[in-house]
Amino acid sequence: MLLLGLESSCDDTAAALVRQLPGQRALVLSSVVVGQTELHASFGGVVPEIAARAHAEKLDLCVEKALAEAALTLADVDGFAVTAGPGLIGGVLSGVMCAKGLSAATGKPLYGVNHLAGHALTPRLTDDVSYPYLMLLVSGGHCQFLLVHGPDRFERLGGTIDDAPGEAFDKVARLISLPQPGGPAIEQAAKAGDPKRFALPRPLLDRPDCDMSFSGLKTAVLRTRDKVIDEKGGLSVQDQADLAAGFQAAVTDVLAEKTRRALRKYLDHAPDVRTLCVAGGVAANKAIGRGLETVAADVDCAFIAPPLSLCTDNAAMIAFAAIEQSQLRAPDDLTLSARPRWPL
Ligand code: KG4
Ligand code: ZN
Repeated sequence: MLLLGLESSCDDTAAALVRQLPGQRALVLSSVVVGQTELHASFGGVVPEIAARAHAEKLDLCVEKALAEAALTLADVDGFAVTAGPGLIGGVLSGVMCAKGLSAATGKPLYGVNHLAGHALTPRLTDDVSYPYLMLLVSGGHCQFLLVHGPDRFERLGGTIDDAPGEAFDKVARLISLPQPGGPAIEQAAKAGDPKRFALPRPLLDRPDCDMSFSGLKTAVLRTRDKVIDEKGGLSVQDQADLAAGFQAAVTDVLAEKTRRALRKYLDHAPDVRTLCVAGGVAANKAIGRGLETVAADVDCAFIAPPLSLCTDNAAMIAFAAIEQSQLRAPDDLTLSARPRWPL
């Protein structure tokens, strides 16, 4: 089965070709991602209308490029997979319309895919991972523990009750005058910082469940920053580094401890093969990765972090999710609708 995938739910326009041969792991033949960071930079966040227009302009080009990179044509493709939600509705609509057009023009099947399912199934595209596995999805927009029982069966064990960690990294970077995206900037600055200089909270660790909160932590950084500025008249490079290191350590501690709790729940379901997987842009953070790896090792669990290009938003994960789900469900038809909200 060879599917062409499309993704346009946030600020990346993407197309990819993924082929699965019987009895083999699926292969990404091409994966094209066109970001929009510079279009939104002066607004301090993604502007939905600008994003939707950019997706509509770029989708065709991404499809052409994905086909060219794989040296294939539409005639070779068996069907189309598209993110049908959740996400910014204008962008999701652009993708769904494009996929419907391709399906109608070629007479080939169309699969609407949940974006979160795409992230959650990615480890099976890159590694030999069997169900059930535990997935920690941590990005700019999402933060949840999912017990993945099968291609269309996900059990949510907990998640953030306010900001996603990536969002918090971005906001904290702004607070301490580091560039966007905040995650990589904070990770870099933290290398020269002392994580213990400022006492920052570890929110919700007193609660036994797997829920998390990052908004209060961000406010604590704001207060600490203001105190330093009051005392010294400004932030030095060392102050920035220490705040970055302290914040990163707090996020790492929260994610690691809540992962420990989610793993305990998961182990009841997975007596033999145990795997902790992580996906989303925040998974790029080395300190967080090391924290999660240690927790997994403590309970004899394998730890899988797919390569960053497949961890962040991309269309290969959407094509692959449709391939996995095609064993269990019929394709969609041209009545497929775009869903801004679509819990797993
Ligand atoms: O998955 P992603 O590319 O997009 C969505 O949010 O859907 O994730 C982007 C987020 C941004 O908030 C960015 O700051 C964060 O991931 N991020 C990081 C790192 N690299 C990217 N956060 C912490 N450490 C990093 N190294
Ligand atoms: Zn995503």
